[in-house]
Amino acid sequence: MARRIPEPFRIKMVETIRQTTAEDRRQALQQAGWNPFLLKAEDVYIDLLTDSGTGAMSDRQWAGLMMGDEAYAGSRNFHHLADTVREVFGYAHTIPTHQGRGAEQILFPELVKRCRGQRPVFLSNYHFDTTKAHVELADARAVNALTPQALDTGTAYDWKGDFDLPRLREIVAAEGDNVAAVIITITCNSAGGQPVSMGNIRAVSELARAHGIPVVIDAARFAENAWFIRQRDPAYAGASIASIVREMFDCGDMFTMSAKKDGLVNIGGLCCFKDDEALFRAVQVNCVPMEGFVTYGGLAGRDMEALAIGLKEGLDDAFLSYRIGQVAYLGERLREGGVPIQTPTGGHAVFVDARLLLPHIPAEQFPAHALACELYLEGGVRAVEIGSLLLGRNPQTGKQEPSPFELMRLTIPRRVYTNDHMDYIADCLIEVKKRAGAVRGLTFEYEPPILRHFMARLRPV
Ligand code: F0G
Repeated sequence: MARRIPEPFRIKMVETIRQTTAEDRRQALQQAGWNPFLLKAEDVYIDLLTDSGTGAMSDRQWAGLMMGDEAYAGSRNFHHLADTVREVFGYAHTIPTHQGRGAEQILFPELVKRCRGQRPVFLSNYHFDTTKAHVELADARAVNALTPQALDTGTAYDWKGDFDLPRLREIVAAEGDNVAAVIITITCNSAGGQPVSMGNIRAVSELARAHGIPVVIDAARFAENAWFIRQRDPAYAGASIASIVREMFDCGDMFTMSAKKDGLVNIGGLCCFKDDEALFRAVQVNCVPMEGFVTYGGLAGRDMEALAIGLKEGLDDAFLSYRIGQVAYLGERLREGGVPIQTPTGGHAVFVDARLLLPHIPAEQFPAHALACELYLEGGVRAVEIGSLLLGRNPQTGKQEPSPFELMRLTIPRRVYTNDHMDYIADCLIEVKKRAGAVRGLTFEYEPPILRHFMARLRPV
């Protein structure tokens, strides 16, 4: 048997977590309207709601916090951050933002203004929900062209984050001047944290360039994507993560980033431009009223310092192998236990296929959300639904949008839990699987008009 590689760190500060009783959890979930988003975090034992801003910073990052230069303009930490972006990504211009959606809200309206067509559209492998929301707030449409391989969760495929290139070509041809930008999401969160291959990134970029379409990289999990490329593409077997990152970003013109993931910080984002100075200036103008002055963008100086350090720490081989290995370990335990999951496991999460596990619950009773509730009741583990509840209704017709997936995401924070926690999570879910037939679907008691999954209240049918 291969020797198990332990976590590549020692722990020098701990936070106590406490288990509750089954009765406590029933009451807490009842009070939360059967919506884990509305639970108090204290009532959660292991929190897998998201990997966003939930990671642990290193001793070096904490030391960086003490070096914060809180000048309103021109902070030393801003310059360190911009220099780091130049070094890691090769992009000349940096705007810090409070988080990823801050970058989206200042960039997309400018891309729409520059679009020559009458009905602007953004094309992506898969728009993340806030990304889609900001496209629509900018009066544009969001269209996805994801490889159909991603929909078959049971069959392994190395690049389930890829664009469906024939489909993308068709849409580009049909939309002509309407295409405001192509957004390459690495890794593809909504498909299961799945990587996009270098060949696909390059082909999308070449297609866009041939049509004069700007290429935006949605870079939240850029280092994980680079790690998968090295692992799975023989052409990159001996390459450094840093060189793969440079090659990916050479294919883009600009990027938005939620730095709360691979940036290894609890808050922060970036909006960066390779060389388009005019666009950079226009987006800076939007930054001031929305995010704050252009050298802090909603962040304290100390936050920018922690991010400058985190961006480079996140490229470390030993860290990435441990990180993605831990997610794979949980996936393996579940697969052995007969729980259907998106295969192979992604970079940041294991996605459980609730359509297969709870076939008796129809989409409009939210099988993946029902599963998340049951997992919480079983062991105090909080997961999140990526399916019909998240997708919501068509704003024109008021009808539920048909969701390509009904997934429950077990999202693993970085450097927070050990593999003993992974074992506990797997044991709980395997227990739930034994009584899967008795799990009931859910119906609304209160359905908010937009982004309903955050605040909805439900009850079992
Ligand atoms: N793009 C991707 C691919 C994301 O996963 C997220 C956030 C964002 C953009 C927006 O960034 O939250 O910093 O404003 N994803 C988190 C998640 C929230 O749980 O997957 P943000």
